[in-house]
Amino acid sequence: MNRKICIITGANSGIGQQAAIQIAEQGFHVIMACRSRDRGQTALDEILKTNPALSLELRTVDMGLQSSIRAFAEDFKRDYVSLDVLIHNAAIFNITQKERELTAEGVESIWAANHLGPVLMTELLLENLLKSKNGRVLTVSSRGLQAKPFLKVDLNDPEFSSRKFSIVNAYYQSKLAQVMYSWWMADRLKDTRVTVNSIRVTAVKVDISRHPELSPFMKWVYMQKAKKSITPKQMARTYTHLAVSDQAADSNGSYFDENNKKVDSGKYSHDKENIRAVMKLTAAYIDELKRIV
Ligand SMILES: NC(=O)c1ccc[n+]([C@@H]2O[C@H](COP(=O)([O-])OP(=O)(O)OC[C@H]3O[C@@H](n4cnc5c(N)ncnc54)[C@H](OP(=O)(O)O)[C@@H]3O)[C@@H](O)[C@H]2O)c1
Repeated sequence: MNRKICIITGANSGIGQQAAIQIAEQGFHVIMACRSRDRGQTALDEILKTNPALSLELRTVDMGLQSSIRAFAEDFKRDYVSLDVLIHNAAIFNITQKERELTAEGVESIWAANHLGPVLMTELLLENLLKSKNGRVLTVSSRGLQAKPFLKVDLNDPEFSSRKFSIVNAYYQSKLAQVMYSWWMADRLKDTRVTVNSIRVTAVKVDISRHPELSPFMKWVYMQKAKKSITPKQMARTYTHLAVSDQAADSNGSYFDENNKKVDSGKYSHDKENIRAVMKLTAAYIDELKRIV
């Protein structure tokens, strides 16, 4: 294939789906990495109905399961040699979740899907990214982290085994860990052709029909929030800019907002000792990292 290749996780809805369209419109072949074949196929059909000339394909992966990520990476390597862009867009955030949930592999699901999954997938696909002329990895975090300036990754209990579970804290902890992982990777790869940057997603309209579990009150809250939110299509422009533009080609280790402006992720997340500690914790879950961190 002579098109550049881009993988986007969670590309069946919201920002991920819009980014898939925009990046395919730039001539890339986009692999939509979705956990549900049905939801992925519906999204792909919807895209191709209006843009039949775009080059996209659907592959399944559950970002919360290492076995699923390993199978996905193995399949990818069988079919492709190099990888140009890897976007870790998928994430779990269900505001109605009250109790800690474990994946089938026994790890707290948000820590597993939002943090460990992207780390493992990048590691497994690194040799393919290194074969690209300018491999790019994009992680996705949240502007909401700004409202939690004292939040830290709990090095003793990232999975909420012995502290009270809070969906908000679990989600932001996973996003903070992703940001710190991005700075660690950017430094590790600084002498290669692969760059790693992170995107600070602002308030973006959520498709309420995807959340039948929301109470009428929470639906109302989301509708109010939507008035001050940008659309997934608008937010996806930052993904697209960082994925395809020449301007962003050399950027490494930066955090970008919805206007493609560099922003700061805060003192705690930049501290080398903190980053090392979070990566040591992360490596305890991922065999490939144990010999590196
Ligand atoms: N919307 C906002 O205001 C906002 C604010 C800050 C940050 N963000 C971040 O922006 C990104 C995109 O969010 P969005 O607003 O576009 O939300 P969304 O429409 O709910 O998209 C999330 C995507 O992630 C997928 N996903 C969830 N768990 C997965 C797993 N275990 N394996 C594979 N895929 C999985 C979902 O698939 P299913 O259809 O199978 O559930 C869905 O495709 C996320 O990283 C989110 O944290 C969003």
